[in-house]
Amino acid sequence: MKHPIFAANWKLNHGPADADAFLRQFLAYYPRTQDRTVIFFPPALTLHAVHLALKDRTDIKVGVQNIHSEDYGAFTGENSAAIARGAGAKYALIGHSERRHIFGESDEQAGKKLAAAVRAGLTPVLCVGETLAQREAGDTVTVVIRQLRAGLSTAEPAQVAGFIVAYEPVWAIGTGKTATPSDATTVHLAIREELRTLAGERAEAVPILYGGSVNCGNAESLLAAPEVNGLLVGGASLDADSWSGIVRTWATMASPLERRR
Ligand code: 13P
Repeated sequence: MKHPIFAANWKLNHGPADADAFLRQFLAYYPRTQDRTVIFFPPALTLHAVHLALKDRTDIKVGVQNIHSEDYGAFTGENSAAIARGAGAKYALIGHSERRHIFGESDEQAGKKLAAAVRAGLTPVLCVGETLAQREAGDTVTVVIRQLRAGLSTAEPAQVAGFIVAYEPVWAIGTGKTATPSDATTVHLAIREELRTLAGERAEAVPILYGGSVNCGNAESLLAAPEVNGLLVGGASLDADSWSGIVRTWATMASPLERRR
């Protein structure tokens, strides 16, 4: 049975007080349930407050948006996987497109950061996705597979089954343009195929999320695509009403048959 992941990437939004107000509202809407996983990625300075606010809700997880490749040392301004873990994180986003395109992070750095996450016991969520120019040049799958290979280059095949991959086309992030379920399916299938090459049948266990302008109106059709194992949401996760609408799409989805995919 499909067990979707709903991940909220708050990016640089919501300090501790805002997060507290958000969670009060969201938790009132969202009863404990075993049929999906919800993960919040707050800014690093808010992470511990979110962890504390969720103390009774072990069904909801927290992750860190970015980590340094080293665990400790003279790296002023950085956050490490080990410290994030101590603050309550269980997941780490690796290679988010804003890290790649605004902060100039390379494929190689993504690989090192993924290794740091694994060392600290965090589940990496490796983000991959092509720009509009790469898409228009017909390079989507080439780019995504290159990012995937580089990001996973530091991992042992046996570890890959414990990871998560997120396909986030850059042209769909924050633009209101979403990949169609069929576009997402094509890329997710290519990712799955490459994961099989890297990790054999263990690859089947890796959830592949879609992200890029997901909202209450399109979440259901994206999730209905068999290859879409969950959603990574930015803007529409910032408001408790909108986020709970997305998370609850799953409970309201068509038929038990549909949910079994
Ligand atoms: P939007 O949902 O705002 O397009 O952002 C997607 C994203 O980058 C999630 O990581």
